[in-house]
Amino acid sequence: MKYKILTWGCQMNIHDSETIAGILQNMGYSPADTLKEADVIILNTCCVRENAERKVYGRIAQLKQFKLRNPNLILAVSGCMVQQPHVVEYISEKLPYVDILFGIKNVHKLPELIENARQAEFPVVEVMESSEIKENLPIERMDNSRAWVTITYGCNNFCSYCIVPYVRGREKSRLPEDIISEVEALAKEGFIEINLLGQNVNSYGKDLEKPVAFHELLRRVNDVEGIKRIRFLTSHPKDLSDELILTMKECEKVCEHIHLPVQAGSNRILSKMNRKYTREHYINLIKKLREAIPNIAISTDIIVGFPGETEEDFLDTLNLVKEVEFDLAYTFMYSKRKGTPAAEMPDQIDDDVKKDRLNRLMQVQDAITAKKNMELKGTVQEVLVEGISRGKIKKLSGRTRTNKVVNFDGGRDLIGKLVNVEITEPHTWSLLGRII
Ligand code: 5AD
Ligand code: SF4
Repeated sequence: MKYKILTWGCQMNIHDSETIAGILQNMGYSPADTLKEADVIILNTCCVRENAERKVYGRIAQLKQFKLRNPNLILAVSGCMVQQPHVVEYISEKLPYVDILFGIKNVHKLPELIENARQAEFPVVEVMESSEIKENLPIERMDNSRAWVTITYGCNNFCSYCIVPYVRGREKSRLPEDIISEVEALAKEGFIEINLLGQNVNSYGKDLEKPVAFHELLRRVNDVEGIKRIRFLTSHPKDLSDELILTMKECEKVCEHIHLPVQAGSNRILSKMNRKYTREHYINLIKKLREAIPNIAISTDIIVGFPGETEEDFLDTLNLVKEVEFDLAYTFMYSKRKGTPAAEMPDQIDDDVKKDRLNRLMQVQDAITAKKNMELKGTVQEVLVEGISRGKIKKLSGRTRTNKVVNFDGGRDLIGKLVNVEITEPHTWSLLGRII
C-alpha cells in the first residue's frame, strides 16, 4: 500500500506532513512516486490567503477522476483549511468523494479514520479542537541533515488580517526537556542543522508552568553536541528581546539570519493590523541586530493593500524597505479571510491597486536583494549541501549560514555535508560558486 502527501503553505505545514508520513509508514504504507500509484492521497492544506485555498480546491477537483478510476483510493484533506467550519460544510456537500477531513491535532487518529472511511458513505470528519500536545508521534523526515522541530503550536496574537489563531488555536509551548531530547536524538542520527518552529518563537515558554524564555532554550539547543547550525522561525518584532540578540551573537551555532515580518511601514496600518509595535521600534530592532551581528541577513513579510491603506501609507512601507534594506522580502497582497476583524473593515482596497503596489514594492526589493547578493562576490561561504539544483544545468545546491541559496559543481557524496564555497557569480535569487 502506498501513500502520497501534497502540502501547501508554511514550514509548519511541511513539518506536519512529516508526521502524517510517519504515521502512515507505521501503518505499513510506503511512499508512492506518483499520484496514480497511491492508495491514500492526503492534501495537507493552508488557508492563510485565498490563493492557497483556490489551489487546493483545484487539486481536489482534479483528483475526482482518480477516485472514479480506483474506488478503493482514500482521499483525505487535512491542515488549516479544514479547521474552518464553512470549508468542512462545503467539501462534505459539494465534494463528497473526499473520504476524510482531519485537523492536524487529530493526526494520531489517522489509522482509525482510514479504517472508518473504507466503510462510510460520507466523508469522515475529525476536527476536534484539543489543546493537548501529543509527544512521540512518529516523524518521517524528508531531509537527512536538516531537521524541523516544533517548539510552540498555535498563536495568541490575533493580527487583524490573520486566520492562523482561529485555525491553529492558542499558543502552546512544548516542554524544554522534550525539545532537547528530540534535538539530542536528531544529533545522534547525524542531523547537523536544527530549525526551531513556532508561529511566534519569541514568546516561547511563557505559558509553561515553569516559564522558560526563548533565548534560554536557544542556549540549551546550542549546547547539544553534534549540531552545527541552528535556525528559528518566525520572530515577532513585539517580543524580540535584547537577551535574544545577545544569545544569537554569543551562540556560535545560531546562524546569522533572522526572519522578522514587518508587514507594513505605516504606524496607522500597523495599529489597524494589531501588530503592537511601531515603525520606529522595528527600525531600532534592526539597528540593534546589525550592531550585534554585523553580517546578519534579515528577511521579512510584507502585506500591501490592507483595508484603508492609502498611497501615503504604502509609501511609508516603500521607504521602510529602502531604509532597512532587507536581504529578502516575501510580499503579499492582502487577502480577506472570513472571520478575521480586517475582513469587516471598511475601505477594502481594489485588486488593481493592490497589484500595482505589489509590483512597485517587488521592483524596489528585487534591486536591493540583487545589490546585497553582489556584495558577496569573491567571499567564501560555509554551505550546507542540500541536494541537486532545480535548474536545467544540474549543480549542487545548498545554503549559507545567512540562508542564501548557492549552486556549484560537485559530487553527490557532498549532500548533507558542510563545504566552503567561493561566490563567483551572484544573481538575484541565487548565487553561483566554486567549491574550495
Ligand atoms: N493576506 C495576505 N497575507 C497574509 N499573511 C497572513 N495573513 C494574510 C492575509 N490575510 C502573510 C503575513 C504573514 C505571512 C505568513 O502571510 O505576511 O507573515
Ligand atoms: Fe498570524 Fe500574527 Fe499569529 Fe503570525 S503572529 S500567525 S501573522 S496572528
